[in-house]
Amino acid sequence: MSSTPFSLVSLDEACKLLRRGEVCAFGTETVYGLGADATNSEAVLKIYQAKNRPRFNPLIAHCADLEMAKSIATFDAVAEQLATLWPGALTLVLPLRQGASISDLVTAGLNTIGIRIPGHELARKLIACVGKPLAAPSANPSGKISPTSAQMVRDAFNDDVPVLDGGICQSGVESTILAVGQGQVTQLRAGALTRDKITRSTSIAIDLADHAAPVTAPGMLKSHYAPNAKLRLNAMRPNQGELYLGFGTHHDAAGLNLSPSGDLAEAARNLFAYLSELDAKGSATIAVAPIPDLGLGEAINDRLQRAAASRQ
Ligand code: TXA
Ligand code: MG
Repeated sequence: MSSTPFSLVSLDEACKLLRRGEVCAFGTETVYGLGADATNSEAVLKIYQAKNRPRFNPLIAHCADLEMAKSIATFDAVAEQLATLWPGALTLVLPLRQGASISDLVTAGLNTIGIRIPGHELARKLIACVGKPLAAPSANPSGKISPTSAQMVRDAFNDDVPVLDGGICQSGVESTILAVGQGQVTQLRAGALTRDKITRSTSIAIDLADHAAPVTAPGMLKSHYAPNAKLRLNAMRPNQGELYLGFGTHHDAAGLNLSPSGDLAEAARNLFAYLSELDAKGSATIAVAPIPDLGLGEAINDRLQRAAASRQ
């Protein structure tokens, strides 16, 4: 009989750990998060330590419902409208509410806060049980591939962090981040909820962040999501010695295909798991098939470009 691995915990155990200021990873519909009580600086510090994350990079506060979200940020009319898309794969960067008891380590000292109500029911149950917003970056060592299963979290941290298993992540790429302020909505990160969908359901126009401007989402470092192998993008086929991450009709029997039918949602869901599976085979270069830059393709290509960016 197989016993429960040490690092997997129940909802009740996860809730107790978080309440007493420990970290715990949990599944969401985007990627797994490494959570801590966002009101407790000592707890939040443990996230930065576990991930080896730069302290200037603020964290998303995950809320169970709108009431909790409104207790820590102020919502103007545009934010209210965007909030109708919650729960879901959308993070809103909003003015931090004065007097909100959020640790400075969550906002990295900014007067704004990134908030998300996750679509995953178990994640919302966990937050509701703790009764506090949960700060949670993706549950991977800083700069590495984001985990989309409990097993990927356990591998990334050598079973050193407790994990609440939420199954395989439905979306597979992180949330879309929008900054809302001064009558403008700016996309800071392409993500699982496409701009098309947001604009179609809210009629709100979204600006793209000016990449020449100083980094406004500090986590948007050029090199991120780095596998050990080099990535060669837009490759029609693998060269000798390369492993191939295919898409649609571009495929190679020795590699993996993100979606044989060319479905971007399926490709997003498989992206991080397949990258890490190919990476584990130890080849020096992974060649990646072209992915159309439409809809979810925007988020997929963003992650691939960051993964390909040279790491000095
Ligand atoms: O889907 C997701 O968003 C996942 C799951 C766990 O919710 N979380 C995630 O967190 O991707 P993380 O830490 O890997 O990315 C959060 C991003 C970072 O780029 C950070 O700079 C940005 O959000 N961010 C957070 N608060 C911000 C703020 N106040 N202003 C600007 N950017 C902010
Ligand atoms: Mg991340």
